[in-house]
Amino acid sequence: MILYVNACVRRDSRTKRLAECLLEKLDEPFTEVRLENIVFPVSNEAFLTKRDELIEAEDFSNPAFSLAKQFAAADKIVIAAPYWDLSFPAALKQYFEHINVRGITFTYTPEGIPKGLCRAKQVYYVMTAGGDYTPEEFGFGYVKALAQGYYGIEDVRLFQAVGLDIEGADAEEILQKSMESIRQM
Ligand SMILES: Cc1cc2nc3c(=O)[nH]c(=O)nc-3n(C[C@H](O)[C@H](O)[C@H](O)COP(=O)(O)O)c2cc1C
Repeated sequence: MILYVNACVRRDSRTKRLAECLLEKLDEPFTEVRLENIVFPVSNEAFLTKRDELIEAEDFSNPAFSLAKQFAAADKIVIAAPYWDLSFPAALKQYFEHINVRGITFTYTPEGIPKGLCRAKQVYYVMTAGGDYTPEEFGFGYVKALAQGYYGIEDVRLFQAVGLDIEGADAEEILQKSMESIRQM
């Protein structure tokens, strides 16, 4: 089962179009987690204390761990996120904070090195950007570091279409080219 983590917001999202093209190419059943529909709990002290108690007791039956368990059990993960302020929408960071649970998505070795507990072999990261200046370190690069360093998922791939909002750019043509490269994959 593919887990489709959708951080797109706009109804006519170009990122969503690219992601749907990829899902069609992968041609497997998928479950969508639409981040704009999720109200994440405030990570205040009471929340963290309760969460730590449950993790310490390895009591993962609490619904607070449902998203983490779903992520850990997925065969493949597709993340769709527009490029926002050199990174991705804050809802995606909230999602990562929520699913990074020791004992579900990762654990630590006795030396303190994270060891992945996720089943997935691939993460596909789909992104579109308005401009052509799209350094990777705070967006795709961050997700890749998490996937490889925490979740134990080595194969992390980027699909993107950039420069869509530049004056005079033919956004549709750029998108079509990206979708074609996905279909040819
Ligand atoms: C809040 C916000 C921040 C953005 N920040 C950037 C940015 O830092 N760099 C950039 O090239 N485009 C930026 N953009 C433009 C979007 O990346 C671009 O329009 C993208 O294609 C939107 O994806 P969507 O069609 O899936 O919503 C930003 C757009 C929004 C709404």
